Amino acid sequence: MDKLVSLCKRRGFIFQSSEIYGGTGSVWDYGPLGVELKKNIKDRWWNAMVRSRDDIEGLDAAILMHPRTWEASGHVAGFVDPLVDCKTCKGRFRADKLEDARCPQKPSKRPGQADQCALTEARNFNLMFKTYMGALEESASVVYLRPETAQGIFVNFLNVQQSMRQKVPFGIAQIGKAFRNEITPGNFIFRTREFEQMEMQFFVEPGTDMEWFDQWKQMRLEWHLSLGLSPERLKFHQHTAGELAHYARAAFDVTFDFGGTLGFQEIEGVHNRGDFDLTQHQTFSGKKPEYYDQVNNKRYVPYVIETSVGADRVTLAALVNAYREESVEGEDEGRVVLGLHASIAPIKAAIFPLTKKDGLPDFARNILNDLRKSFPVDYDETGSIGKRYRRQDEVGTPFCITVDPQSLTDQTVTVRDRDTLAQDRVDVTQLHAYLTNKLAR
Ligand code: GAP
Repeated sequence: MDKLVSLCKRRGFIFQSSEIYGGTGSVWDYGPLGVELKKNIKDRWWNAMVRSRDDIEGLDAAILMHPRTWEASGHVAGFVDPLVDCKTCKGRFRADKLEDARCPQKPSKRPGQADQCALTEARNFNLMFKTYMGALEESASVVYLRPETAQGIFVNFLNVQQSMRQKVPFGIAQIGKAFRNEITPGNFIFRTREFEQMEMQFFVEPGTDMEWFDQWKQMRLEWHLSLGLSPERLKFHQHTAGELAHYARAAFDVTFDFGGTLGFQEIEGVHNRGDFDLTQHQTFSGKKPEYYDQVNNKRYVPYVIETSVGADRVTLAALVNAYREESVEGEDEGRVVLGLHASIAPIKAAIFPLTKKDGLPDFARNILNDLRKSFPVDYDETGSIGKRYRRQDEVGTPFCITVDPQSLTDQTVTVRDRDTLAQDRVDVTQLHAYLTNKLAR
């Protein structure tokens, strides 16, 4: 993880937020390559969940919602972690996770283990960020930064169903920021206080919910595999009765093996939320979220199967999955490679003129300008070809295109594959089709 954090900073993927002021606790900024990587992951999710299906609609609900929303959802009363402070070391820990915590004064010991530890009684700490709407900072104007995007979907259930003339079963999907004042954030972008969720609520007839739950569980695992995450690093974790969130009737996590001390951790939750949320909103708003089934002439409040995945966590999983160090035959220096799936790589191809002479840069720049209409591409003319390959390997660029003197005479270039290191001689007029074909895999 340390190597990855350093690569992410050095190569423009992820920076600590407000670094010049010493940083903001567990908040991160995505740099030029990071924003492309995360955007590619979000686009793949949007394509799989919304664009390629007739039965899911997209939504972009506001972050600031009516405060009653969070009373109805159970977050005001129940979205709490038990918190303990240590009066000696001033550390703050989750009371239910003390076995995973490290005392800041005695890194090898758990909080509470040493004689001088002075832990307070556990008290509940609400994870929602509070702010005020309007000019007056009074309790009447309190609003919350949403801790999950899902509630924006629930309160719009009938708006979307009626405006888009959808019939149950159907879903609503959205991507957006969520905020949690986590007591023990950490592990880079794994657990942060500001993050992005990609959530989908699938509304089904009660009684058909477990069937849909099983289907969604499987479909979501397949999506993670399609990103190139290794099958052996992915597995399900079923929630026991004690682990279930207050809204869930059944839940599975898709977990990914981050290695090291983190090991297998949740990247996505698939939940059967029953009619908990819609019924709660009915109670608190007085508006009936009932669906009218015209064919069978009956009304009911649908059950909801939720798929909820963190864009940042999947980005971290993709980076961990892709990072490798290897030796190269015939070369003293090894290479660091981000073997990202080509569809999510921030740069798809880099173009190099072999030298800065004889019109090679002009030839290369023409290719650059042509390809950049379709793909994010990079141009590099500094340093040896070997160094330029290494720079691109490290950020996961799947193809490097070299323009050499032969290019000027026969209009061909060399395309080098990041993973196999194989080099193809490709006609410049075929380059676009060549890359399109390779990137589509
Ligand atoms: N609406 C259901 C829900 O929010 P969750 O299991 O609390 O369920 C879903 O969160 C996903 O959101 C997680 O699997 C994770 O990927 C992401 N997530 C949750 N808290 C996070 C945090 N503090 N930092 C980064 N990602 C987080």
